This record gives sequence, structure tokens and C-alpha cells, in this order.
Amino acid sequence: MTLTDAQNEIAVLTQKINYYNTEYYQNSNSIVSDYDFDRLLERLIELESNFPELRLPDSPSMRVGGTITKDFETVYHKYPMLSLGNTYSADELMEFDKRIAKALEEQSYSYFCELKFDGVAISLTYKDGVLDMGVTRGDGVRGDNITDNIKTIRSLPLRVKGKPLSANFEVRGEVFMPKEVFEQLNATKVQQGEVPYANARNTTSGSLKMQDSSIVAQRKLDCYLYSLLGENTGVTSHSTAIAQLESMGFNVSQTYSKCKDINEVLDYIQKWETKRHELPLETDGIVIKVDSVEQQQQLGFTAKSPRWAISYKYKAEDALTVLKNITYQVGRTGAVTPVAELEPVLLAGTTVKRASLHNANEIARLDLRIGDTVSVEKGGEIIPKITGVQLEERPDDAVTVQYISHCPECNTELVREEGEAAHYCPNSDGCPPQIKGRIQHFIQRKAMDIDSLGERTIHQLFESGLVKSPADLYQLTFEDVYQLEGFKELSSNNLLKGISASKQVPFENVLFALGIRFVGKTVAEKLAAHFRTIDGLSSANYEELIAVPEIGERIAQSVIDFFGSDQHRREVDRLKEVGLQMETLVKEMVIESHALEGKSFVVSGVFSNYGRDELKEHIKKHGGKVVSSISGKLDYLLAGDKMGPSKREKAEKLKVTILSEQEFENMLKEDNA
Ligand code: IVH
Repeated sequence: MTLTDAQNEIAVLTQKINYYNTEYYQNSNSIVSDYDFDRLLERLIELESNFPELRLPDSPSMRVGGTITKDFETVYHKYPMLSLGNTYSADELMEFDKRIAKALEEQSYSYFCELKFDGVAISLTYKDGVLDMGVTRGDGVRGDNITDNIKTIRSLPLRVKGKPLSANFEVRGEVFMPKEVFEQLNATKVQQGEVPYANARNTTSGSLKMQDSSIVAQRKLDCYLYSLLGENTGVTSHSTAIAQLESMGFNVSQTYSKCKDINEVLDYIQKWETKRHELPLETDGIVIKVDSVEQQQQLGFTAKSPRWAISYKYKAEDALTVLKNITYQVGRTGAVTPVAELEPVLLAGTTVKRASLHNANEIARLDLRIGDTVSVEKGGEIIPKITGVQLEERPDDAVTVQYISHCPECNTELVREEGEAAHYCPNSDGCPPQIKGRIQHFIQRKAMDIDSLGERTIHQLFESGLVKSPADLYQLTFEDVYQLEGFKELSSNNLLKGISASKQVPFENVLFALGIRFVGKTVAEKLAAHFRTIDGLSSANYEELIAVPEIGERIAQSVIDFFGSDQHRREVDRLKEVGLQMETLVKEMVIESHALEGKSFVVSGVFSNYGRDELKEHIKKHGGKVVSSISGKLDYLLAGDKMGPSKREKAEKLKVTILSEQEFENMLKEDNA
């Protein structure tokens, strides 16, 4: 291929990808399947790596990351990044208004209200309309150059729409991880037996500082912009700045409002007090800005913050209670989580008895003592958290917390790996909650689907010494089960039948059931489809693993570690011997019914009982058709958890019926009945 050919193809690809991106992110319109989109992007990346001189700074290939930055360069901000004064009541806000009125003397003025987004502040410089640099707030004077990580934010224009209003300008805003993405990330962590992240803001901040931008790309960060700075921007008020940002293609939260006086500001505050919880990110208040730029200049700044703006913080719901004890939970992978046991207290409509403490650092940071009166808050976090200690109420006999050094379940000495906040119990083969957790994981519906086994029975089987690993399940005899408390002839037979039937579940389920770290159901499907046999997978090297689409470094390493353990290999061999499916059968599709004949489906999100591919297979087996994009002709959008909001919006707009997993299952049941 000649340089000119490559140049032409790159230009065509870039134009197409940018068009699809704009349609998707600005207009919520998905006109191309994820698969086709990825193919275009892959081709672009391929060409750019063959002809690196043709890679442009605003190439959409930057979205997928791939660069590694060891140390971020320090960059001075052209204009310092200040903070805002806070107010907590209408009275304080009225005082702010009085100060403004006084300083502006007889002039009339108006306000502009926005929500206060709880993300990570960012400054972006554009040169001739192209994103040149993204810098963190840092200490307000200088921050870190995290441009490559910033470029992975898909809603952020790498080149602005239209003719740039001035050669150089700066925009500022807030990077955030949408709640849905955060919850999904945490669900995956929990599924893999790891400690979930505490909140979206810290996770965003951590993500932005990651060295490998391809991992940042997977974090699906988003960004709202709210400031436009620079010379000759033609901006005369904050309203015009916002309009300008919008017309340049920046993502501006559509929650702002111009308010003609402080009373309208108070209405705005009231309007968003509860409605803000419907937004895709956490907000903790509102920001009130004097609209006119000229008046902003007259009002000026204090050392730390502008006089023309202030924030109003909503009260986080909190309560005071007593810390009675700290207990420790051990998860499937051995991760230890400290839990605060509290004197029950009513908070935001529910009784709270426990709060998460995350890890040892958090306990030290709060300087917690047993017997302390603590404030508990239900903010952005899912589980309530302890936000502080009432030192003046500390009893004389309050006991300093000594973080445990040994596992509360098996007494093995805990380890803490470098760079990790959590302690782990390394005794994975002898520690009861880890063993039971693995069996629980193994039998779940998405895995071996042994529904005749429940948590209680697993506990009994473990306690009686009959089952210490999933493979032991297949050695159980009638006598073994019959002697367990509560088991009769029929229930014993049922249990064994369920275990035996699981020998037929397909290889991808078995692979997921093994509980390899980072290998969720969808990843297991990909690995099973690619390697076809357990031997193929267990002997694959790192390069072979990362060559599989959607398999990244972390997963590859984890698979290698798993099969590197003799113990794991022995367990897999035992499972193989008893007859579990260890290879992908070339399936001839058996049509099970015509229940979905003539109906088309888009499948999106995460499902509790199926992997995505499995669900698609299921639809086809019942005569349905699976398509990739939402159009007016589509019959159903099968929506799992964590489906992107734009898909839902689009389906609603086009009046496509949205089905939940449960509704879908019912639909098949009804038809079979
Ligand atoms: S305007 C002089 N608008 O709040 C600072 N800031 O406490 C002007 N923030 O560092 C900032 N939402 O990270 C502004 N709608 C909004 C905001 C907002 C969140 C953050 C921003 C800033 C901090 C100041």
C-alpha cells in the first residue's frame, strides 16, 4: 500500500468514525453496530501503526488508548483553578445575594445556576480547534498532563464542531464515571470476589491517573463542561459561554437555568433537591454564578475563589450513632473487608446497623475507636459510610482498633500486596468462606446451574467434610446426602440428579464456573469460542491470550496464573474425569420452538441468568432474530442491567418495546404453556 493510499483510507475512516461518534454521543443515535464500528476503528489503528507519520492528534484511534505514561508531566495552568465558597442554607445564600447587590451598586444582574457535579475537575486546551492538552486541577496552580487518558473520553470532541472561535481557548469541566458504569464495575469486582470501589468520584480520579490509557478507555468516563476561557472568545456572559460550548459539540449537562433573581435560584435549588438523583452522576449541590462577564470582572476574586460565584451544598442525609464493634468479612477470593457494627439508627428512611469501612487505611484515617460516636452518611455510596468521629464524645474507655493480622475464619496470617489497600487471606484451600464462596459461584445458574443446591446445603456439605472443592460434588453418594439434616429420599435424589445434569452444561459455563479472576460470563464465552478446549486455553501463552478480541492484559495474566497452579490443574483434571464439558461443541442449532418467530431483538446490558451470547443463542433457538442496532422496525430491546441510557432513550423514542430479562423469560414460558 502506498502512502497516498493509506492517507486516503485514513481520511475516509476518520470521517466515518467521527460521524458515528457524533451521532452516538451528541444525538443519541446509533446507526452502526458495535461490531462494525470496532472493525472501522481496528482498520484505522492498523493503518496508523503501519504509517505512524499519518496519525493525527485528533485521530479517533486515540479513544481506545494504548499509550503508557510512567510519570505525568507537570503543567502550570494559564489561569489558576480556584475553588468555590460554600453555603448550606437559604439564609447564607441571601447574604451572598446582598453582597453582590452591594458590590454592583445600582446595576441589575441575573444568575446562572448549574448543578455541582461530583467528579474530577479538568482543564482542556484547544489549539486551532483541536484538543491539545488535558490537565488535572492539581493544587490549582499546576496539575498533571493526562492528555492521552482524557482523549479516551468518547463524548469529548477531539476537534470542535464548526470554525474555532479563537486560535486558542481553554474549557473546564468535570470528568465523571456514570453511575451505571460505576455500578457495573463494582458488580464485576464483587463477582470476582474483590472489594468494590467506595465511590464513583475516587474511582474516576484513580482512573484518570492510570498509566495505561487503554485501561482508562475501558472505564467509560464521561465529562460535562461548564467553563470557556481565553481571549477573543466573544463571550459576554456565562449563558453565551454555555451556548458556545454546546455549539462546539461539548457535552453540557442540560440541567442549567438562567435565574433572574435569588428567589428563582431558591426555586432551582428546590427543583433539583430530589430530581438530581435521576442524573447519571452524583451531584452534591448547585453552583450559582453571576451571569454577566463584565459584572464578574467587577466583582473579582478572593485569594481562593471568585466573588461572583458560590455553591450551595445539599445536606447529605446523616445521623449520629455508636460504633459497637468492627467485624471482618472474607470473600471468595480471600479479600478481607472490615465492617462497622453500629447501634441501629434511622437514616434516609432505613435502619442502618452496619457500615462499610473499606480497608485498614480508612480506619486509620478516621482514627476510629470502639465506643466512639460516629456520623454515618448515605451519600453517593451504596452502603452507608462513616464520615467522622465526634471526638468530644469519646468515652475514656474507648478502645483503639487493632486491624486483624490473622484471618477471622481460618486464622491464617493475612497478607497485603504492595499497592493494594485490602488485606487477603492466602489460605484459599483451607479457608471456609473462600471454599464455600467458590462452590456457591460454581453452582449458580450462569455457571453449572445446579439449582437443587442452596447456600444452606453447601454449608452442610462443607461442615460435614464431604465437599471441599467443586469437584467433590460429583463424588457424592446417596448415603452421603441422605444423612444430612433435612434430607429425605426424594430430596437426596433430586440433589444428585441436579449435580449429574450439570455435566451437560456447555464449556463456557464450566469455564465461568471455575472462578478465574476477571473471567466473567461474557469473557468465558469469548475464551471458549476462541480456544475451544480447556487444554487449548490452559496451554495458551500471554501473547495468544491477548490476541483474542476483548481479552486484555489483566485477564490474560489472570488466566496464566490460574493454570500455573498445580492445585487448579488437579481440580480441572478431576472435573474433566467426572465428565464435565471441557470443549466447545460445534453446535448444530436445534430449534426448540417458534415462539419468537418473525420477531427481532437487540440484546444489551448485563443479565443475571445468562451471558449475552447465550441469550442471543436462546432467541435464535426459539425462532427470533438478533440484530445489532435499534431502529423503528425493531420489535424488542432486551435490556439487562447497566444498559446505556442512550439505547433506552432511543428505543422509547422509536416506541420499541423494552423487555427485562424476567419479562423475556415469561414470554417464552407463556408460549410453551
Ligand atoms: S465553576 C472558580 N461549575 O467545584 C471555580 N465548578 O469547588 C469555578 N464543580 O473545582 C468552577 N460543578 O471542580 C463550576 N457547575 C460547576 C461545577 C463546578 C462542579 C467543581 C469544580 C471546582 C469545584 C469548586
